[in-house]
Amino acid sequence: MSSNLKWHPHNIDKYKRASIKGQKPVILWFTGLSGSGKSTIANGVEEELFKKGYHTYLLDGDNIRLGLNRDLGFGESDRVENIRRIGEVSKLFVDAGLIVLSAFISPYKADRESIRKSVNEDEFIEIFVDTPLEVCKARDPKGLYKKAIEGKIANFTGISSPYEVPLNPEITIDGSTTDIKEAIDIVINYLETKGYLNAR
Ligand code: ADX
Repeated sequence: MSSNLKWHPHNIDKYKRASIKGQKPVILWFTGLSGSGKSTIANGVEEELFKKGYHTYLLDGDNIRLGLNRDLGFGESDRVENIRRIGEVSKLFVDAGLIVLSAFISPYKADRESIRKSVNEDEFIEIFVDTPLEVCKARDPKGLYKKAIEGKIANFTGISSPYEVPLNPEITIDGSTTDIKEAIDIVINYLETKGYLNAR
């Protein structure tokens, strides 16, 4: 049990690891409905950071659910566990000194807040990709909304399962009116202004 375990501090910490990369480690937490554009924006932001020479890692809903979290479904307790594990993995990557981009629906406010609380204050940036449900439904890139409305998928976020809107996200992007280039610029500008980049 955890009462017999003790966190072992290592000589090389995240600040030392990050210093050779000229960046401040951070989690960019993208939350929003399925089809809101989270993954596309996160992917674009990662590409831009890579071009600028920063070291990143992108964690994405569908990909993680195909591997690490393949044992989890979409009921409430499984979603809580999904986000808990991803929070832990994100923290490890922050400890590795990286800029981590995590793109998950993460529908529950309490789960997002618990990841925020588990790292330093400046290590968690919540990015709400705020795309109205009607727009996501109309886009339906994977045909999942159609199936959910027909009752062929249970617990579908926005249809038969809730999404709790972030109250104080650091960044909000209106996914219905912001094009991808603009969205990428918003995030990159934020990182530049707040001193996450160019720490060389
Ligand atoms: S979360 O709610 O637990 O954070 P996560 O981001 O990992 O969700 O996975 C969401 C992706 O799983 C969606 O983009 C969609 O492709 C797929 N999916 C399959 N079933 C569901 C469902 N019932 N609700 C939402 N997304 C689903």
